Amino acid sequence: IEHYAVFGQPISHSKSPRIHKLFAEQTGQLMDYVAQEVPAETFAAATSRFFADGGKGLNCTVPLKELAWQYADHLTERARQAKAVNTLVCQADDSILGDNTDGIGLLNDLTINHGITLNGAKILILGAGGATRGVVPPLLEQQPSTLIIVNRNAGKAQAIAEDFAELGAVHACDYANLTDRQFDLIINATSASLSGDLPPLPEALLKTGGSCYDLAYANQATAFVTWGLANNAAQSLDGLGMLVEQAAEAFFIWRGVRPQTSTIIGLLNAERE
Ligand code: ATR
Repeated sequence: IEHYAVFGQPISHSKSPRIHKLFAEQTGQLMDYVAQEVPAETFAAATSRFFADGGKGLNCTVPLKELAWQYADHLTERARQAKAVNTLVCQADDSILGDNTDGIGLLNDLTINHGITLNGAKILILGAGGATRGVVPPLLEQQPSTLIIVNRNAGKAQAIAEDFAELGAVHACDYANLTDRQFDLIINATSASLSGDLPPLPEALLKTGGSCYDLAYANQATAFVTWGLANNAAQSLDGLGMLVEQAAEAFFIWRGVRPQTSTIIGLLNAERE
C-alpha cells in the first residue's frame, strides 16, 4: 500500500483524507492518506522523514505552501508562477517535484461544475495574498476582458498585477475606487470571510445575474456567499468544489487516474446540510 498525507496547521478539520479515501474507493486504488499537524518550524524535517519512509505524495496547506515551494527539487510552471506548492510528488529518481493544483481546481469548479464563462468576463478578485497569486495565472489564461485585484494594502495588489502583466490584462485598485464599477464574477481570496468579516464592497458591484465565489468554505454560508445572495448573484458559491477539484488533480498526478468529482462534491454538500 502506498502512503500519502496532507500537512498543515491547523489540520484536524481537513476534509482531504475523506476526499482521497473516496477517490481511492471509486477508482480502486490501493493507498492511504492521512492528515498530520505540522507547523512551519518543522516542515522541512517532517517532509524529509515522510519521503525517506517511502511516502509517495504530499499535500501542503496553510501555512506551508511557500515552504513547500522552497523545498521542492523541481517545480511545474504553474507552481513556479504561483510561488506556492500544494502538491509534492516523489519521482522515480527520488527527487521531489512541486506542483500547484489550486488554480486548475478553481477553473474546473467555475467552468465545468457551474457553467461560468470566464472568456470575455469582467472579473474582480478581493485580496492580494498567496491565494490570489495562485489563481491569477489560470484565470488570465481564459482571457477575461478585465481582471482587477483589489486589496486594503493596494501595493500588494499592484505587485501581483505587475508580476503577471505579461500573461494578460490584470490591474490593481483599492476599495475606494470600486464605486461605479460592475463585474460578472467576484472572487473572494481574502482571509476575512472565515472570521465573518467582509471587505467594504459598494452596492451594485456585481452585475445582476453575475456570480460570486469564495475560495474559503465552511459548513454554513460564509459572509461573502451571503453578500452574493443579497446582491443578485445567479450563483454564490464557496470553495468546497475547488477543494475537491484541486484534490482530484493531485490524485491524478500521483495515481494517473482521474476520479469523477461530481458525486463526491454532492456527497460532501449533503453532509454539511
Ligand atoms: P492567503 O495565503 O490565504 O491568501 P494571506 O497571504 O494572509 O492569506 O492574505 C490574506 C489577504 O486577505 C490579504 O490580502 C489581506 O489584506 P491586506 O494585504 O490588506 O492585509 C486580506 N484581508 C484579510 N482580512 C481582511 C479584511 N477584513 N478586509 C479586507 N481584506 C482582508
